[in-house]
Amino acid sequence: LNLQAITKNFFLFLSNNKTLDRLAKRYGTRFGVDKLVGGETFSQAIPVIKQLNEDGLVVTVDHLGEFVESESEARERAQEAVETIDAMADNKLDCEMSVKLTSLGLDISRELVLTNMEMILDKARERGVTLQLDMEDSSRCQATIDIFKQLRAKYTNVGLVIQSYLYRSDKDLDELDEYNPYLRLVKGAYKEPGVVAFQDKDMVDRNLKQLIKKHMLNGNYTAVGSHDEEMINFTKELAEEQGIPKDRFEFQMLYGMRNKLQHDLAKEGYTVRVYMPYGMEWYGYYMRRLAERPANIAFAVKGIFSR
Ligand code: FDA
Repeated sequence: LNLQAITKNFFLFLSNNKTLDRLAKRYGTRFGVDKLVGGETFSQAIPVIKQLNEDGLVVTVDHLGEFVESESEARERAQEAVETIDAMADNKLDCEMSVKLTSLGLDISRELVLTNMEMILDKARERGVTLQLDMEDSSRCQATIDIFKQLRAKYTNVGLVIQSYLYRSDKDLDELDEYNPYLRLVKGAYKEPGVVAFQDKDMVDRNLKQLIKKHMLNGNYTAVGSHDEEMINFTKELAEEQGIPKDRFEFQMLYGMRNKLQHDLAKEGYTVRVYMPYGMEWYGYYMRRLAERPANIAFAVKGIFSR
């Protein structure tokens, strides 16, 4: 185990800590968090999104929060999503929405999460907004895919995320192909055991390239969710080789990460979508980002001491 692996495991462990999560909510978006989060409310994020749009970048927003345990909270969050979609359209933002099904009741009941998603997607369809279902940990993967399929049969404005660290993803791509899904392909951010996921970074990288290739050659719209230049260059070269036009794929990166690369790609004529979280519940999100990249820890520490 090298130092990077130890650090990663430590922050992934912290990301599940309920006490720290509660504390985080009390203290708000301090400690450098505001560099990775668009605001504590959607209204605060609107000018930030407008600026990104003016700079030639498109956006997807994520109302922070996951693992909701009460039905009333899941319903409130669905209502909030509906209002956010109206605000997006009223403000003419070039913006999609990403959602975590556990925030809409996935752990409570299938019926609840479906009712909430249908309400959100009805509004989104009416206002011309697209949604993407984030993928959470492997214990929720099958349920998330099942719900996606059910929704996709009825709505065209819904996409999904697939993670290359899972062994199952290649087969999932085959099974999803008949839906011509809009997929965001990522490496995967949760701590997963060797029985379900590659532990070796090279294997995760290799699998991501294979998934990108398969999905693009299947003719499906592809979002590559990665800050890794190796993945980005691979995608560009593949598109060039295969004559896949730039309007058939896009790059997605997290807000506050690799800003220069985001702008450079946009200037080259690629669609670049910035994933912007907002809200008070930043703790789990932030800890997973620290786990991914030790350099993020340095700027978190700077954030603490610069106030
Ligand atoms: P990785 O962390 O593997 O880094 C590879 C290399 O890229 C580094 O060695 C470095 O050279 C370079 N690099 C990476 N980050 C950099 C930075 N900030 N600055 C400079 N260089 C950097 N996960 C999940 O499980 N479910 C989901 O729904 C999503 N959704 C999602 C949306 C979007 C838009 C993104 C970008 C990512 C996700 N993820 C996710 C997270 C994803 O699974 C993964 O954990 C992270 O993106 C980290 O992997 P990367 O491919 O970005 O590079």
